[in-house]
Amino acid sequence: MRLIKSPKEVDLIRKATQIAGLGIIEAMKSTQPGVYEYQLDAAAKYIFYMQGARGDAYPAIIGGGTNAYMGHYFYKTDVLKEGDLVLMDYAPDYRYYTSDVTRIWPVNGKFNEEQKELYNFVIAYRDALFKYIKPGVTSNDVLDKAAADMKQYLVGKKFVKPAHLKAVQEGVQFRGHFQHPVGMAVHDVGRVHGVKLKPGMVFTIDPMIWIHEERLYVRIEDVALVTETGVENMSAFVPSSIEDVERTIKEKGLIELRPAIALPIKK
Ligand code: GLY
Ligand code: MN
Repeated sequence: MRLIKSPKEVDLIRKATQIAGLGIIEAMKSTQPGVYEYQLDAAAKYIFYMQGARGDAYPAIIGGGTNAYMGHYFYKTDVLKEGDLVLMDYAPDYRYYTSDVTRIWPVNGKFNEEQKELYNFVIAYRDALFKYIKPGVTSNDVLDKAAADMKQYLVGKKFVKPAHLKAVQEGVQFRGHFQHPVGMAVHDVGRVHGVKLKPGMVFTIDPMIWIHEERLYVRIEDVALVTETGVENMSAFVPSSIEDVERTIKEKGLIELRPAIALPIKK
């Protein structure tokens, strides 16, 4: 029953996704060097509660620099540094339903050239995966077709470092970009692999790459709803293109408008 969402359940997941996105957008706006990872958590939590959520569905994963490499890093105790990326994966509990959205952005508000190369690969992979999701196909069909597109994408592409080229080549082969169902739990029950996709299934698309030599991890995550004719990206409104992300970071966020008046607690 939980694998195929009813229209009412889809509405609740859509609302949870909107709140997740608004929280992440607030964190993006509030980002600058010197802000702590836990302060981005605070900014998003404020939005979650204000929008009617009852707290979060899972502890926020917010990792600056190499902290993001630790997968489900939830300590959030470090200060964000100039030149690093910060990854944020967070969603609220909204009337017992949730979502699962991830974005990654530059702490100083501008992607550098090597970050752009890696980030654009991940965004292109997300778009390739979404292109092939529709009723009647399987996750393997989607992954095979998207991987073929991404192989083409890499033809003639240059990467500043050999380790980055290796990371994206491994990323093309990786099968974990098509992830898990979402619903009452962030990893909801039911199988979305090895079955034909059906309208009402909701799951995440989570393209990711690891640059092991530098302990870097680049990933974004969107929430896919299979419709009668194709797919809807429920989290598409959360900035992901380089232009949209950079424009959002430039806006003033809660942390700049309401700075901590006592010194933040240090590690
Ligand atoms: N959002 C955390 C996860 O999917 O594992
Ligand atoms: Mn996930």
